[in-house]
Amino acid sequence: MASQQPFVFRWGIISTGHIATCFVKDALLDPRTRGVHDVVHKVTAVGSRSVENAQKFIDAVAGGDPSIKAHGSYAGVFADPNVDGVYIGTPHTYHYLNAVDAIKAKKHILVEKPATSNLAELRSLLALAKEHGVFLMEAMWTRFQPVALAVRSIIDEGSLGAPVMIHADLSHDFDLENIPKSHRILDPHLGGGAILDLGPYPLVWAIIALYEYPSNKNSAPIVTSSLVKTPLTGVDANTAFTLTFPAIPAQALLSCNINIPGSGGPGATLRFRNGNIIIPSPLFLPKSYTVQWFDRPGSGVVQREETVKVDIVGGGWHYQADEVARCVRDGKTQSEVWGHDKSLLAMKIFDEVRRQGDYVLPEGVEQVL
Ligand SMILES: NC(=O)c1ccc[n+]([C@@H]2O[C@H](COP(=O)([O-])OP(=O)(O)OC[C@H]3O[C@@H](n4cnc5c(N)ncnc54)[C@H](OP(=O)(O)O)[C@@H]3O)[C@@H](O)[C@H]2O)c1
Repeated sequence: MASQQPFVFRWGIISTGHIATCFVKDALLDPRTRGVHDVVHKVTAVGSRSVENAQKFIDAVAGGDPSIKAHGSYAGVFADPNVDGVYIGTPHTYHYLNAVDAIKAKKHILVEKPATSNLAELRSLLALAKEHGVFLMEAMWTRFQPVALAVRSIIDEGSLGAPVMIHADLSHDFDLENIPKSHRILDPHLGGGAILDLGPYPLVWAIIALYEYPSNKNSAPIVTSSLVKTPLTGVDANTAFTLTFPAIPAQALLSCNINIPGSGGPGATLRFRNGNIIIPSPLFLPKSYTVQWFDRPGSGVVQREETVKVDIVGGGWHYQADEVARCVRDGKTQSEVWGHDKSLLAMKIFDEVRRQGDYVLPEGVEQVL
């Protein structure tokens, strides 16, 4: 009996920077190496602000595959009939405009985190996606990885009890003194700073453990924050924020920094009455987790401990690509795992963190206010 053919999803890639490279390398891996047999990814077009860069990218990342069309503009990819959906890997403050153009061309969208510069832009984008009937997802790749899926099911299984406190940090030393002020991490015109770039990662663990916790009933948390800005350009270098979920009740204490190393950092500790789940740094791609069970609730005496290591073939970006392909195949306009509500929640939190820290993006950067 002939086996069922996998669903083929044809990607157009917008931009040729660091993360577009990571995404395409993973998308081109044979999905069977991660046990996936129902979907396959093809890259059919790459768009860059210069056609030479688009071709260089195809040569370097896709072995010069002649079937991939190099476009000297993003518009060329949006108009390309061989593209089902686009991956948007431009700096944060371009996501909205790029996604609007793609939606108007009736392409499905996977847009890098943070989905937009602010909540108002995301609301407007989702309304447009709905009007045109296209799928849209923020590229919150960590949520689709094996450790996130395992942690979610351990919490659901219930032996740890209800979550009480989440500590999570993501830091990276971007060598601020020695990079140009126009670098996307420093330039406020590109949404520079820690909260929009690294903030999504401590946040994803709070969303998994607290926002998704059944008794929270998808309620938004109360937010407090404190920022330290770099004198170089005024973007936030060090950000701490708390999320309080009164319905559980539980809290998250989260931080992100762009001038200290991530390695050796604290990662995440998810604390429950009956034990802990410990996730090592870096939080965007954990390759193990440890679960500790106390001898009785609240004792802090670890009776049983299990560390589970996971093998990941590739860089871990492909899991989200599989989700997009499956959702589009099944006629969905959003993911059930990382749905629009979670991207809206993230943007709402980031807006509030910036408001409390008085980090205002330069005039004209935000397309919708
Ligand atoms: N998921 C993850 O793990 C992850 C990791 C890093 C970054 N990201 C996200 O991905 C996005 C891009 O980050 P990146 O590190 O890939 O940045 P990057 O290396 O600087 O690449 C950004 C690309 O965007 C295009 N672009 C369009 N307008 C631009 C402008 N005004 N200035 C600079 N580049 C512009 C350029 O491609 P062309 O010249 O080809 O047009 C450039 O190569 C950010 O939103 C970031 O949050 C995600």
